[in-house]
Amino acid sequence: MRKKVTVIGAGFVGSTCAHWIASKELADVVLLDIAEGIPQGKGLDLLEAGPIEGFDLSITGTNSYEETSNSDVVILTSGAPRKPGMTREDLVAINAEITAGNIEKVAATSPNAIIIIVNNPMDTMAYLAYKVAAKAGFPKNRVIGQGGILDAGRYRTFIALEAGVSVEDVQAMLMGGHGDEMVPLPRYTTISGIPVTEFITEDRLNEIVERTKKGGGEIVALLKTGSAYYAPAAATVQMVEAILKDKKRVLPCAAYLEGEYGLSDLYFGVPVLLGAGGVEKIIELPLTDAEKEMAARSAALVKSSIAALPEKYKDL
Ligand code: 2OP
Repeated sequence: MRKKVTVIGAGFVGSTCAHWIASKELADVVLLDIAEGIPQGKGLDLLEAGPIEGFDLSITGTNSYEETSNSDVVILTSGAPRKPGMTREDLVAINAEITAGNIEKVAATSPNAIIIIVNNPMDTMAYLAYKVAAKAGFPKNRVIGQGGILDAGRYRTFIALEAGVSVEDVQAMLMGGHGDEMVPLPRYTTISGIPVTEFITEDRLNEIVERTKKGGGEIVALLKTGSAYYAPAAATVQMVEAILKDKKRVLPCAAYLEGEYGLSDLYFGVPVLLGAGGVEKIIELPLTDAEKEMAARSAALVKSSIAALPEKYKDL
């Protein structure tokens, strides 16, 4: 049986996810949006690329949840993006409505799906999505937030540019909320297994870390009318591939913590084992005191964003 992925939101992130799922021939795709004609038009356009690009899938666009039923993976991208000068947190109230409303419908129509949350502020939206989905019986391992792979992608890009090496050879792990207080872990960054500090001075590495933290804002400032979508979609589709192919990838994703890293009742970026079961394991790395302090600061920010959720979502 072919796998089925629903992408909610036919904007730039959603349609780019659909594009890469199709070009990697991972699964049939249903693109859903409230705007009439947009998901249908983009779906048909992508379908018509199949004979040229050589993918053979069902790709449909819809305004109705009926067509999404029994999806294996559902990606939630819909929500307002940031404008220049806005933080991800400025989006809490508006995107909470969108997230809660959609996840209720996902839980009813695709009860066995793995849900990937992409909309911002991602850690808070993943938390809300989990609380809504849990009411319908979803376990925590089937609701995952995308952020860490994107942040690591930016970090790896800047390191490769600085060191003059292929991005393919840069491996990195980072942790924390998907925000400006993310926790890069240079200790766990290598170029083909060689510590990155053999290639880049500590000062330059610190500058790269700072650029990475503000990587999303850098794109927003350039685009002016929206936020990044190629790298966020690529990161999301890497998660989809790990799940559908049960690859047991070790990737930074936002997972629900219940005591890991001394943190509880929040979504937070941590290294996870990602496979057919979703988050199959949370990997607990030993952290230095300085790293623990950065993680605590990042967690406090995520907690304050969760606290800013509208009242009606607080008792879920
Ligand atoms: C980013 O970091 C939109 O949060 C997304 O670009």
